[in-house]
Amino acid sequence: MNEGKLMEIRDLRVEVEGIPILSGVDMAFEQDAVYAVLGPNASGKSTLAKAVMGLPQYEITGGEIIFKGESLLKKDISQRAKMGIAYAFQHPPAIPGVKLDDFICRICPDYECKAPSDHLMGESCVCRQELYDDFDRLGISNLADRDLNDNFSGGEMKRSELFQVLSLRPDIMFLDEPDSGLDYDSLKVVGRELKSIRDKGDTTMVVISHHRYILEFLEVDTIFILQNGRVAYTGDMKDIPVLQEKGYDRFLAEVTA
Ligand SMILES: Nc1ncnc2c1ncn2[C@@H]1O[C@H](COP(=O)(O)OP(=O)(O)OP(=O)(O)O)[C@@H](O)[C@H]1O
Ligand SMILES: [Mg+2]
Repeated sequence: MNEGKLMEIRDLRVEVEGIPILSGVDMAFEQDAVYAVLGPNASGKSTLAKAVMGLPQYEITGGEIIFKGESLLKKDISQRAKMGIAYAFQHPPAIPGVKLDDFICRICPDYECKAPSDHLMGESCVCRQELYDDFDRLGISNLADRDLNDNFSGGEMKRSELFQVLSLRPDIMFLDEPDSGLDYDSLKVVGRELKSIRDKGDTTMVVISHHRYILEFLEVDTIFILQNGRVAYTGDMKDIPVLQEKGYDRFLAEVTA
């Protein structure tokens, strides 16, 4: 592994149900930097993040992923999560029967919940006020005792998903369209939250997005453009206005000519 790289993806090949989706992706992520993974619909962006996270449906058929100097290939999803990798879903699954506040209380050591599992988030929990203040900041207090993602609106789902991932305090997080479906105000809330993490400087962020606002707000360092299951272009934020004007086909045809 190169010096200074937190994660390195080499010649990664991924299949879903026997169909090749990624056909040789090379990327590297440095500590505390912010990256964007861009590309047309169905180019493999979500597949890449899910394969790195270790979702079992996404079979790695070739290549390597090195994280903190170790290969991830033989590690399952929970081992990867414990190593410091997190993924915020583009379409988070609903988990009926699990309340958002109980869930956060279980996964996040920062809230220091000492309550026995049968009275999670009771009035006596030390974590309760702190957790509810954080819910307030993301505007999701009304969701605290709702079943996870169950019938959440699109915007509620995105804010709750982001909250869950941030609560894990990961070293690297893959945020799959954290801005999709958000109204103008929610976009600012999410943007500010992510920017404050960026400013703290102890997390690597990999943002998948189709929109310019969040990328500019976060001052993304490096962009990767996926096309046909490979990195077709690596650049920076200076490329974004040109990309937006020309669209992927024309932009990539010109830069790779
Ligand atoms: N679980 C799955 N089962 C079948 N096909 C899948 C699965 N996951 C992804 N694919 C297929 O892999 C291709 C890449 O999908 P992926 O979700 O990675 O695209 P994407 O770049 O994230 O697109 P978008 O911008 O629309 O979110 C698509 O053709 C998709 O239908
Ligand atoms: Mg996607």
